[in-house]
Amino acid sequence: MSTRHFLTLLDFSPAELRGLIDRAIALKALHHRGERHTPLSGRTLAMVFEKASTRTRVSFEAGMAQLGGHALFLSPQDTQLGRGESIEDTARVLSRMADAVMIRNHSQTLLERFAAFSGAPVINGLTDRFHPCQLLADIQTFVEMRGDIKNRRVAWIGDGNNVCQSFIHASLQFDFDLAICTPPGYEPDTAVLSAAPRAQLADTPAGAAENADLVVTDVWASMGDEDQSQRMQDFQSFQVNQALMKLARPDALFMHCLPAHRGEEVSAEVMDGPQSVVWDEAENRMHAQKALLEFLLT
Ligand code: CP
Ligand code: NVA
Repeated sequence: MSTRHFLTLLDFSPAELRGLIDRAIALKALHHRGERHTPLSGRTLAMVFEKASTRTRVSFEAGMAQLGGHALFLSPQDTQLGRGESIEDTARVLSRMADAVMIRNHSQTLLERFAAFSGAPVINGLTDRFHPCQLLADIQTFVEMRGDIKNRRVAWIGDGNNVCQSFIHASLQFDFDLAICTPPGYEPDTAVLSAAPRAQLADTPAGAAENADLVVTDVWASMGDEDQSQRMQDFQSFQVNQALMKLARPDALFMHCLPAHRGEEVSAEVMDGPQSVVWDEAENRMHAQKALLEFLLT
């Protein structure tokens, strides 16, 4: 069988994704009970980071350690990648030594090129287009707090960015409605959107948030977006604040992949308020990715 990769949520079937969420919840319970579970003893995850990270790096590194394995942090500056060794050659070499490779880089296309030459599973740790690991944690968090996400209503307010586009994939794979409201010119990719019938653009943030079970946002300027000051103007009326949350269902949750900017995309009141589940969401990165690593490597 050919090597399985996790480059977007569409690489796994809906049943496989649901299985990962159930397994993540079980692994979390095991971890919180203090029970050791080390199926990846002697296995290595190579992690290539072209962009900064707190959660992704720590969750994969701690997760591999808990599973009995080892994670290796590689930055382009310290490897031959930064001196021009090709993606294809790097993929062939890394995958002969490591059992899996996680990559965070600027380009989904480069990630795909890497995967095409890797004999080991490749995991997308965020690109310009998608952040599928984030969605595993987000769905796990919703399921833990509110049960099945099927047929629920999710509102995305803000930039039509990598996390938004993975939410669009999630609406297809987990079968929920997704209302997206972005400033003009910041919409998600048309091809990504049109392949997911339950994801629709809304005209106003209020229209998107109305009756939502979950309200989600992300930074106004992602890593690599240089046009910051124009963005600050364009996104002014796209803050998730208490007034917007009031339009959602009374038991609606608030999520943000983090890092967050209080006073920009989210008010401090919402970020630190009772509907916010951002810390559970961050913790679940580790549990969800442990389930993913176990799935890919055992
Ligand atoms: N949410 C997320 O991916 O965070 P980091 O950039 O800190 O990894
Ligand atoms: N959209 C953000 C997510 C960070 C985890 C970025 O790409 O910078």
